[in-house]
Amino acid sequence: MEINKIAVLGLGLMGNGIAHICAQAGYEVWARDIEDKFVENGLTAIRKNLERGLKRGRITEEEIEVIMARIHGTTDIKAAVEGADIVIEAIIENMNLKKQVYGEIDLIAPDHCIFASNNSSLSIQEMASATKRADKFVGMHFFNPVPVMKLIEIIKGAKTSDKTVQVIEDLSQKLGKETVLCNKDTAGFIVIRILIPWMNSALFTVYDGVASPEDVDKAMKLGTNVPMGPLELLDYVGLDTTLHIMNYLTQELGPSFTPCPWLDELVRAGRFGRKVGHGVYEYK
Ligand code: CAA
Repeated sequence: MEINKIAVLGLGLMGNGIAHICAQAGYEVWARDIEDKFVENGLTAIRKNLERGLKRGRITEEEIEVIMARIHGTTDIKAAVEGADIVIEAIIENMNLKKQVYGEIDLIAPDHCIFASNNSSLSIQEMASATKRADKFVGMHFFNPVPVMKLIEIIKGAKTSDKTVQVIEDLSQKLGKETVLCNKDTAGFIVIRILIPWMNSALFTVYDGVASPEDVDKAMKLGTNVPMGPLELLDYVGLDTTLHIMNYLTQELGPSFTPCPWLDELVRAGRFGRKVGHGVYEYK
């Protein structure tokens, strides 16, 4: 399938990263958020992240301008989705809101358009039920920071066609990513199902007085060669987001995902992680 126009819905951390790599790969991108200031913030973040490559000589100022010119920021959902070949949705992880948006864009997007949801744990089939194109509905889970992380998880809903999966696999390759296929539309898919208990165990290790946060992270970085320790990563992903995911996994998959009480305490204290300047650690 030929892809000319990609609509990205939601220009937060994940959405702006997705718009960035799509434009960098040569696609015309319509990047939509609900308010002008969110659109502006998203476009500013993309430019800033592209400029990281300037110092290293990986990109020129002219190339940055060409990429930025391919991204059309808008608050108008109709303008974004009309004529799109693929919609990649990266709005907040709230099922009702997502279904509302999908119901709306199903009436605007061309029949051939594929809907790909960037989401870490919600049911693909349930979101697809808000549309009349369940065969063209798929999960496309990116990782943060999107321009750097190599993986895209592709998730098949009950009715997702093999053709749709193939189109998303081909697109992922053009975006310079590797894919894995999650055959079962189950909460947490692959990565989150494994990553979340790892971070939760790290929280319990501190909560139970076994070691300090610094030593937990040091142990895992030097002992297992991961780039960030589990508590650093928790601050990076966001404690509020992680708690939300853990509660959902507990509800869907059972008590082994129950969050450590310390996480609850940190979130109640507003310690949401790097984005607010403090989480497990303090940031300047
Ligand atoms: N955009 C573009 N480039 C970026 C970037 C961004 N947002 N963030 C970092 N980079 C680039 C830097 O420019 C740098 O490039 P060069 O080496 O060419 O200069 C490179 O990435 C490394 O960055 P830094 O030198 O700043 O820092 P670092 O070496 O400590 O790496 C990191 C930072 C890439 C974030 C690394 O620590 C890492 O990989 N951490 C693990 C991240 C991870 O696990 N993410 C998954 C989270 S789970 C998730 O996302 C799923 C979900 O749904 C919740």
